[in-house]
Amino acid sequence: MTHASSPTTHHTELDRAQQANSSLADHVKDRWYPVFHIAAPAGWINDPNGLSHYNGRYQVFFQHHPYSTSWGPMHWGHVSSENLVTWQREPLALAPSLDEDSGGVYSGSAVTGPDGQLYAYYTGNRWKNPANRDEGNVQVQCLATSADGLTFTKQGTVIGTTGLENFRDPKVFQREGRWYMALGATGEDGRGQVHLYTSNDMMAWDFSCVLYEDPREDVFMLECPDLFELDGKWVLMFCPERPRPVGYRNRNTHNAGYQVGDWQPGGTFVPLTDYRQVDWGHNFYAPQTLEAPDGRRICWGWMGSFTLPVASQAEDGWAGQLTIPRHLSLGPDLNLVSTPLEELKNLRQKETDIGPRRLEANQRVSLLEGVDAFELEITLDLSASSAERIGIMVGNLAQNSYAYLGYDAQAGRVFLDRRLTVGDGGYRSAAVPVEGVLTLRIFADRGSIEVFINDGFNTISSLVFNETESRDVVLVAESGDALIDACKAWQLGSIWV
Ligand code: FRU
Repeated sequence: MTHASSPTTHHTELDRAQQANSSLADHVKDRWYPVFHIAAPAGWINDPNGLSHYNGRYQVFFQHHPYSTSWGPMHWGHVSSENLVTWQREPLALAPSLDEDSGGVYSGSAVTGPDGQLYAYYTGNRWKNPANRDEGNVQVQCLATSADGLTFTKQGTVIGTTGLENFRDPKVFQREGRWYMALGATGEDGRGQVHLYTSNDMMAWDFSCVLYEDPREDVFMLECPDLFELDGKWVLMFCPERPRPVGYRNRNTHNAGYQVGDWQPGGTFVPLTDYRQVDWGHNFYAPQTLEAPDGRRICWGWMGSFTLPVASQAEDGWAGQLTIPRHLSLGPDLNLVSTPLEELKNLRQKETDIGPRRLEANQRVSLLEGVDAFELEITLDLSASSAERIGIMVGNLAQNSYAYLGYDAQAGRVFLDRRLTVGDGGYRSAAVPVEGVLTLRIFADRGSIEVFINDGFNTISSLVFNETESRDVVLVAESGDALIDACKAWQLGSIWV
């Protein structure tokens, strides 16, 4: 392990970044800025990092470029919460300050050590030639510790260079008294792999095994791996770069997926399922989980994009948000079931209930007018509906500016169509279980929509930017009628305290 750098340098970097971020925050526009999603006050964010419960609070860190709305030298931003509903902004936690993290404090995780301190493991990225990134990078694994969960002391490198160009995103967990660290890598054979390291003291780490290699030849790297036990099985979640799109699958340049299998300490991961997508929307990447003190496995993903411009980047002063927190469990087919945390019901405010009703063919019914952030729960009796498409339009219909979300009876899928919204358009869809009743639980913020299909069987998460600030929600059935068993909406309050 190398020695800790001067804490003064780190604090100077943090102060500089904090000030720059505050100046940027003065110019942040509200129109799409999230009401109930974690986002930075200003600037760019990507992956959730260091998800933990420490000092009686949930700690959520995230990849952050505080200086601009584009990805840049990575810092760790920080928010915390007592109840997973309302959140407090915390000072920036980590900034580049060492030679080995001069090109960015990349993604990682945090766990409580036996000494009661919070151990944050992250990848230190260094550009071989800072003037010109063409020569590539060196990635090592670093540790920073904290006694209060707020201020960190960098302890330097705990796993030095392996010579692998891509070697990052340590996810640390404890099992039977030993510590394990899963890391994403491009193996010597050029394939996407997850490597496993192990330690007794959290400081000295030994290579254990290649936990998993992606069988697809076009996948060269597995970013942000997470390995956790769920309902008696093990889930290996990772972000493969870059499987080709096939049909409805892998449509984003960055997609997150998982396999469910068995794992024993010391062994490799034995998959019991095929590779599956975690989410079917345009913007869901780099998910990470934590185990809450009550045993729930809670997941956050990142909603943003590395490759396509995000509309808020240009003029609004911010880019990227985390998803709402989701509770994970396993379904009967060993599928990952993902539901909004129960606690989020505490954000509900004014309720609108339009009850059971039948929509005639091509009828449009106004559900909400001039709404900001809202949740909508709608149950459709598909076996008693003949409509080709049933759903909601969110935006301004008179100005032909809206997102369309619903069920397509011909495809047998739930879709989200963004062609009449601002920025990157496109269409995504997800399968529904083959049953007569479809329930959609929709969380719509000022700049995003997340849909949970039949209690989390599948989810669709996308950034959605409407042209007009005032948004309406209209129910619609096309070319046939629709039987709605229940339909309730709530305006949602802010998460910030
Ligand atoms: C995934 C990722 C990670 C890396 C981080 C850098 O989104 O590329 O692999 O640690 O972002 O910001």
